[in-house]
Amino acid sequence: MKVTVVGAGAVGATCADNIARAALCQELVLLDIKEGLAEGKAQDMMQTAALLGFDTRIVGSTNDYAKTAGSDVVVITSGLPRKPGMTREELIGTNAGIVKGVAENILKHSPDAIIIVISNPMDTMTYLTLTATGLPKNRIIGMGGTLDSARFKYQLSQHLGCSAGDLNALVIGGHGDTTMIPLIRFATWNSVPVTEYLSADQQKQIVADTMVGGATLTKLIGTSAWYAPGAAGAALVKSIVRDEKKLFTCCVSLDGEYGQKDICLGVPVVIGKNGWEKIIDFSLNDEEQTLFNKSADAVRSMNDVLKT
Ligand code: NAI
Repeated sequence: MKVTVVGAGAVGATCADNIARAALCQELVLLDIKEGLAEGKAQDMMQTAALLGFDTRIVGSTNDYAKTAGSDVVVITSGLPRKPGMTREELIGTNAGIVKGVAENILKHSPDAIIIVISNPMDTMTYLTLTATGLPKNRIIGMGGTLDSARFKYQLSQHLGCSAGDLNALVIGGHGDTTMIPLIRFATWNSVPVTEYLSADQQKQIVADTMVGGATLTKLIGTSAWYAPGAAGAALVKSIVRDEKKLFTCCVSLDGEYGQKDICLGVPVVIGKNGWEKIIDFSLNDEEQTLFNKSADAVRSMNDVLKT
């Protein structure tokens, strides 16, 4: 098994580190446009192999796509991150050019790869990757809802005083501060709805804090987060390479599911060796469906920027 991570910055390197530590592949390529960065980080990570006991061979590459040849999975993290006060949407102009170029180069050497898109604005970058490459839709997966759902579980665990690992909770919709939809009605703690334990005010607070989860970290750190985004990318890689068929919220191409078409948006999907294998179409109530439609409208107007 071979995995490539494009972008050796904060998210890409963390994702690669998680992939190596879990020994998810025999060969891992880390590629970046910045001279020496990927080689340096790959060597640094390889020097943890003796300490952590993994056998994955990590290769660094400065924009040499030949090294990525034959990758089974490719994670795209290349592009600008947001700074405090910026929205993910403001990154569109620069990142669209980067992501499109990267996807084309990748496919020249790995025509069968499954592509995970992390670069922001992620919903639009996923749609761009799908339309620019013409790949079968199951092979293009946007990572946003996986992270947002982990952040939702974190917020719930803080209020419930429980382990985040014991929670089931999903955030669907767009990967934006105002477009994501934490589905508190469906969240459970050991199979019991969390709404049984939380007041209406607590529920509102948890949803609000989840939605600004990324912005809160950007304010604290001065740039966007990387530990949870990197781990979320690696969790998707794991479900693909081990064919785990786990359920994650991912940004995928919709063809009528949740009432939407010609858009990539976050919905619950089964992730396995074929990429995203199945969309789980929960039945939303009127309020949730209205929010989902609004989220789709916002993402669609961002996608329209690509056409101008
Ligand atoms: P970073 O600035 O640390 O790393 C980005 C890397 O991309 C840099 O090393 C840069 O040299 C490289 N790069 C730029 N153009 C490239 C090209 N054409 N080919 C190869 N490499 C290129 O940024 P960070 O924090 O790693 O974030 C990366 C992206 O991921 C950003 O767009 C950020 O907004 C996004 N992000 C998405 C999340 C999600 O949930 N979808 C969560 C966190 C970040």
